[in-house]
Amino acid sequence: MSHDTAPTPLTASKGSPLTGTIRVPGDKSISHRSMMFGALAVGRTTVKGLLESEDVLATADAMRAVGATIIKQDDGSYTVDGIGLGSLLEPEGVIDFGNAGTGVRLTMGIFGSHNIAATFVGDASLSKRPMGRVLDPLREMGTNVIARDGDRLPASIRGAETALPITYRVPMPSAQVKSAVLLAGLNAPGETTVIEPIPTRDHTEKMLKGFGAEISVTLNENGERVIKLTGQPELKPQDIDVPGDPSSAGFPLVAALIVPGSDITIENVLLNEHRTGLITTLIEMGGDIEIVNRRETGGEDVGDLRVKASQLKGITVPADRAPSMIDEYPVLAIAAAFASGETFMPGLDELRVKESDRLAAVARGLEANGIPCLETEDTLTVTGGANTIGGGTVTTHLDHRIAMAFLVLGMASDKAVTVDDGAVIATSFPTFTSLFETLGAKFSEKASEAA
Ligand code: S3P
Repeated sequence: MSHDTAPTPLTASKGSPLTGTIRVPGDKSISHRSMMFGALAVGRTTVKGLLESEDVLATADAMRAVGATIIKQDDGSYTVDGIGLGSLLEPEGVIDFGNAGTGVRLTMGIFGSHNIAATFVGDASLSKRPMGRVLDPLREMGTNVIARDGDRLPASIRGAETALPITYRVPMPSAQVKSAVLLAGLNAPGETTVIEPIPTRDHTEKMLKGFGAEISVTLNENGERVIKLTGQPELKPQDIDVPGDPSSAGFPLVAALIVPGSDITIENVLLNEHRTGLITTLIEMGGDIEIVNRRETGGEDVGDLRVKASQLKGITVPADRAPSMIDEYPVLAIAAAFASGETFMPGLDELRVKESDRLAAVARGLEANGIPCLETEDTLTVTGGANTIGGGTVTTHLDHRIAMAFLVLGMASDKAVTVDDGAVIATSFPTFTSLFETLGAKFSEKASEAA
């Protein structure tokens, strides 16, 4: 899981127009949470359309380690027989989360209010990422923590015997931090309150409500979201149908816009309002994207996206849109390379602490492929329409989205583009190459000669 093996370079080159109808795998955020909440419920949760990626499977293993029984059934769905909130067993071994920030941070929240000890490790990327953002509020709730300097992994926690419910104002726009506090609050007696000045994806709130928790969301006088959760509910098992991941859909979406002559449909994409920033932005840039067959599944908006190749124009992306498209900036930067004029993306400080320093990784990747860009501490400007682009090799830094974004570049650029490690894609989108091949994309596993 930790990608310690030799990297596998992967090259994408220009082929025919992309055509056809696809479904992207299940949403990563909802998949993680269905394993976790299923484990905390009493009884059997069923999950259809689970994202079977390394990240999510690591979360399933972590829930097994505390007593849940999680089984893949013959029809491809998963059953989760929960052990029940308050009854988690102490894991026998170390919990390895590989590359999964969401997995480890939310699980720290769950374990942090249970009287068990656990040690968390991850790959080289996860071991660099800041865990203090969740460990600090957990300390306030009574969790004991020993972590490497700067609150990095490996880290060990011993959960509080009786956790203290707290009121916590999330200092950065982060659904992971919000969720970790709420999940710790699940097993704290009394009311846990999270104040969220900048709204982020609300899957934890929506799904916990579905599982029977008492949780309310209101706006205070400053327009900030105030989430109140009553601790120690009995969570009831659910039947979950995971919609397609809009972050994964971003790759075929941008590819179809920039590969001339393309016309594709991506079915069953989650359209939660906190996740659709990329679609809004690409439409503002002139992208021909039609949302059809809008419907509701399991309390979430879902629809199909019909996308046709378009001449894009550069725009300024509002900074306050960042949380609704935080994982999509790498592929937006690729779209910007094909737009006329400049695309200015402010408010990107959180990109510095993703699976890689994504702002730097994107900028270096663009430069390696002849695309002019300017990186500041928290902004990126990309100048589109350069004469001959591509031909570079991109360092992925164990970051799946860097790998996928630059393979999309290779599908439309004059010269092929190589990423230094295609294996990292399995973190979130294991069927990426096969799905793109059905649309007509061309990959090869040796480095491009142009590179
Ligand atoms: C996620 C929250 C976001 C996002 C990540 C998934 C979640 O992270 O980048 O891919 O499922 O809660 P942050 O909370 O760090 O913004």
